[in-house]
Amino acid sequence: MSLERIADDFVTRAEAKDLTVGVIGLGYVGLPLSEGFVRNGHRVLGFDVDEAKCDAIREGRPYFKHIGAERMEAIRDTGFMEATTDFARLSEVDAVLICVPTPLNLYREPDLSFVTRTCETIAEHLRPGQLVVLESTTYPGTTEEVMAPILERSGLKAGVDFAMAYSPEREDPGNQHFETTTIPKVVGAPSEAERKMAVALYSGIISEVVPVSSAATAEAVKLTENIFRSVNIALVNELKVVFQDMGIDVWEVIDAAKTKPFGFMPFYPGPGLGGHCIPIDPFYLTWKAREFGHSTRFIELAGEINTRMPEHVIERLGRAMNDHLAKAIRSSKVLVIGLAYKKNVDDTRESPSLELIDLLIERGADVTYYDPFIPVVPLTRKHAEIAGMESASWTEDKLKQFDVALIATDHDGIDYKPLLSAVPLVVDTRNALHTYADEYGDKIVKA
Ligand SMILES: NC(=O)c1ccc[n+]([C@@H]2O[C@H](COP(=O)([O-])OP(=O)(O)OC[C@H]3O[C@@H](n4cnc5c(N)ncnc54)[C@H](O)[C@@H]3O)[C@@H](O)[C@H]2O)c1
Repeated sequence: MSLERIADDFVTRAEAKDLTVGVIGLGYVGLPLSEGFVRNGHRVLGFDVDEAKCDAIREGRPYFKHIGAERMEAIRDTGFMEATTDFARLSEVDAVLICVPTPLNLYREPDLSFVTRTCETIAEHLRPGQLVVLESTTYPGTTEEVMAPILERSGLKAGVDFAMAYSPEREDPGNQHFETTTIPKVVGAPSEAERKMAVALYSGIISEVVPVSSAATAEAVKLTENIFRSVNIALVNELKVVFQDMGIDVWEVIDAAKTKPFGFMPFYPGPGLGGHCIPIDPFYLTWKAREFGHSTRFIELAGEINTRMPEHVIERLGRAMNDHLAKAIRSSKVLVIGLAYKKNVDDTRESPSLELIDLLIERGADVTYYDPFIPVVPLTRKHAEIAGMESASWTEDKLKQFDVALIATDHDGIDYKPLLSAVPLVVDTRNALHTYADEYGDKIVKA
């Protein structure tokens, strides 16, 4: 059967919700995506190498803070979702969506090993008519240059026997306004027939699907979005440093600037970049650009500025302790507030808070942290020495023991009142204390 015929049949079955969707990688991206499909009446077979996640899905038990028990039970109760570590069952699905990690290696180059291993496994079970969509963030060219040749080891031909597409994930864990099915989804594919299949699949669950002319274009869209964020965050971080020395509050500047109804979009400074996306993804393009003889100077510069932020914050903290308390960082008791890389999530990947804790320990401080969502510091390759550290309790007695507190992440729901009455100095990297400026201004230093 020609791919055009296969596509027509696929579209008809997608409209009738008669497809089984395979999702590989049931993490921050794959789990809510699966949820979107089952909630809209599609069968999902989820695959992960992590048996614990599969068990949790079967039992309706949460494993992320932002996807709680109610949602996990609802997924289970639809009866549409199965989760398995048995990849031989890939032959049962009509579409395979790949949502595995795409980190950087030690040399800050793309590490596509999760994607290539997954494609090797798919190739062992691939059958004619299946659609394979890569959702992991990656550089332009991955779908056709990396994924296609591995899948073709099955003996089947891409664009003839099976279809491929790329559709970047725009998931934003913890976002109160948008979730998987209400965030427009970009789809690119090597041919019209393949794009038609992918568009039909996502149209069943996503409010707006945005087709683009090729898989490489869709890959470039995702990187463009994240580079835009990284560069703009670096810009406000740089402005923060300059304005601080001029005695100007950058948050006040941004709040006033954003009243301009066109030509300005607010970004906010912080203690550095975190998460699995913004600190990492831009360097996927840097690496690929070299093949074409280009350097990506904006990306490198933004990386440099953002990476220096934790050092800057610690410098400000040291100066504030000197000026306000006549104390040095060495031997002082410091409380770092917020371990997650952003508010209201329990994700510590690439979190600048870990770097801040390391820098403080390096300078001889006695460091403790508080994060209501992360009771224990998880083991990471880069910050192994602080793994196992436990979150402090938020009581006035406990808080009184600290010389200084450093707000790294401003989770909603933290009551800063007891902190401000107990601790003589609070260094705030998020403007979390702006409403307390009148009462406690002399204790608050922005960094
Ligand atoms: N986290 C986000 O907010 C976000 C947003 C947009 C895009 N992305 C991109 O989505 C992709 C996935 O990110 P994530 O945050 O969901 O990662 P994650 O680490 O939360 O989840 C990945 C899952 O894949 C599983 N896995 C690893 N190797 C596997 C294999 N060989 N076979 C099957 N399962 C395997 C892991 O056990 C894990 O459950 C990345 O490319 C990331 O850049 C993430």
